[in-house]
Amino acid sequence: MSEIALSQAPAHLRHGSNMGQPLTRREGVLKVTGRARFAADNHPSGMLYAVLAVSSIARGRVAFLDVAAAKRHPRVVEVMTPANRPPLAQDPDMRTNPFMFRLDVLQNDRVRYANQPIAVVIAETLEAATEGAVLLSPSYETEPARVGLDSVESFVPPGIGIGNPAEVQRGNVEAGLAAASQRIEATYETSAQYHNAMEPHAIVAAWDGEKLSIDTPSQGLALAQGRLAGLFGISPENIHIRSPFLGGGFGSKGLMTGPQVLGILAAKFVGRPVKLVLRREQMYGPVGHRPLTRQTVRIGVDSDGALTAIAHHTKTASSTFDEFFEPASDISHTLYASPAIATSHEGVRLDIGTPMFMRAPGEATGSVALESAIDEMALACGMDPLAFRLRNYAETEPISGKPFSSKALRECYARGAERFGWARRPLAPRQMRDGAGLLVGWGVGTATFPALMFQGQARAVIRNDGTGVMELGAQDMGQGAWTALAQIAADGLGLDIHEVEFRSGSSDLPDAGIAGGSGHTATAGMAIHNAGADVIAKLADLAMGDQRSPLFGAGNAGVVARGGRLFRRDDEGRSESYAEILARAGLAEVEGRGKSASDPAAQSNFAMHAHGAVFAEVKVDPELGQIRATRLVGAFAAGRIINPRLVRSQYYGGMIWGVSFALHERAVMDPRSGRTMNPNLGEYHVPVNADVPSLEAILVEENDPHVNALGIKGVGEIGITGTAGAVANAVWHATGVRVRKFPITLDRLIEPSPAR
Ligand code: MOS
Repeated sequence: MSEIALSQAPAHLRHGSNMGQPLTRREGVLKVTGRARFAADNHPSGMLYAVLAVSSIARGRVAFLDVAAAKRHPRVVEVMTPANRPPLAQDPDMRTNPFMFRLDVLQNDRVRYANQPIAVVIAETLEAATEGAVLLSPSYETEPARVGLDSVESFVPPGIGIGNPAEVQRGNVEAGLAAASQRIEATYETSAQYHNAMEPHAIVAAWDGEKLSIDTPSQGLALAQGRLAGLFGISPENIHIRSPFLGGGFGSKGLMTGPQVLGILAAKFVGRPVKLVLRREQMYGPVGHRPLTRQTVRIGVDSDGALTAIAHHTKTASSTFDEFFEPASDISHTLYASPAIATSHEGVRLDIGTPMFMRAPGEATGSVALESAIDEMALACGMDPLAFRLRNYAETEPISGKPFSSKALRECYARGAERFGWARRPLAPRQMRDGAGLLVGWGVGTATFPALMFQGQARAVIRNDGTGVMELGAQDMGQGAWTALAQIAADGLGLDIHEVEFRSGSSDLPDAGIAGGSGHTATAGMAIHNAGADVIAKLADLAMGDQRSPLFGAGNAGVVARGGRLFRRDDEGRSESYAEILARAGLAEVEGRGKSASDPAAQSNFAMHAHGAVFAEVKVDPELGQIRATRLVGAFAAGRIINPRLVRSQYYGGMIWGVSFALHERAVMDPRSGRTMNPNLGEYHVPVNADVPSLEAILVEENDPHVNALGIKGVGEIGITGTAGAVANAVWHATGVRVRKFPITLDRLIEPSPAR
């Protein structure tokens, strides 16, 4: 992408290893100066504005739209409804693989959830399109909305998450509970949450005959291309998607959503480029969310404080028409050693938009329940909650019995506790006050997240001026991917980072896989690493086969690439620069390709997870119940750290999200209408600066040779897990009140009844 220039300041010249250096975000200056072009910043000539009209009911049908009134608006160009929208080649309700959302793209007059698109108004200006959408004044045939986990009959979903089994057990949980000397059973509720990225799902779409060109945020460009190719009946090569930056994805931009497809349909309908940008409240429905859960955890321990059983049951909701079920119980497969573990899920179908992956989907919801329950069990045993965790954390993955790198977890507990000052924590609650009389509480939670890797590809080039190129169709979501990946690229090419041109953000580059599941650095990184190795091998072949090269005949001894030169491995006095090799061969450049894929043998022999421990301090006003998280220390072990500055920042982001989960975020639904009542950043609370405590993230070194050749695990989502539970446990320690509904709000703390 020629319009994007990424560079490092001279201070960042590396002279050797690029990986491991704390470089700043290479796109940072573009972003803070407003020069980074996001999807909605594009404005092709002749472009029109499309605005969605969305349903104000949650279930029923659209009986009437005043299309004539909207079209009478002088600047409205067209109104697209189910009656006239261009045909699709594929039923948007069809789902041929798990990486598809069923879409609402005006296929009929049914309403399946509030805020479902029911028409698209296309106009010369945004204002006119907005006004046109109001003029449609829809009327409905309304049916009662099914909301809440108890409104309809439940069932065992055929799969949870992406095709995981809903029920799993190892050992006999009932026997384990019966044999226990202490047992607890507790039920926790978590709220529906919405992604609330800064950047909405915006799209600018333009057709040129059968060719489609779009600017839209996407966490997986090739997946999006394939989905659109199916819907529009054109070949994927005819679809060009540009998605250099995302203003937050969080999972909601992992798969193509209905509104994005409607933007493309609108452009087709009017035969002109069209921009469609969701308003904030329109994101509460058609683009995914984290569903509410009710989780019951039963735990038993023997007289030595060792777990005898963990049973974790989740009831959760999906839409009436699609298949995502939050896999909350599965966290109990991973964290604590127990001879008996049973996890189960139960689903209901409600008149809501389909839930979707949202930052640690399953792990975030599940760990807040499990970490609360573990704390309650420690209390029942009279044990310090950290000591109880040290007694029971898993040395091998409990559900599979496979080894994993849990040694680092013990170090996370130890280093986090030391830094936090945990040893001074009184066992009983309500023992600590600050100078202002606020109750102070300390809590701990264990963090974990699977180390995932997907398939991806990259292309590498060495040019005869001695510089390199690395390209792949990845995006920078804000996490700093383009910096970390460029560091891997530079080392793979044996160059300094300023000598590598990094091209990304466009679907005509090699498929970088999906940036999700905290697996992007491993996925794209391994593809880059392998592409670098491939191009260096080609360069080495050129040199070693040429009698005029000092590397001639290096043969099996081989060469090593460093600083833009190839050195003979067994005699570093013999070397040659990339430029010299290419010049002699008469080549302008040489190209290599790389792929990433996880190793099936390693996958079947080892369980792969990152680990961590989070310590939280909260302060609670004893009269008003107002809660503030004041201090967080997290210690995380997540394999090789490509860029410690960015990794620490990822942990901070995760920990802030954990605070948000524990204390702030909740979508409130009106049970009468099935509408979310707070679909805006004024009333849907996310932490602002004043809510963010002092944060510290300790990077615990870990060498896990099994995950991939670079030893990379994910760091994006693990910070949420552990943190939400640690904050909840700290609230208990401050107040002596165990709140089992999330978020923990002051009304729940001062409520006199035991039903919290
Ligand atoms: Mo994510 S929820 O893996 O984008």
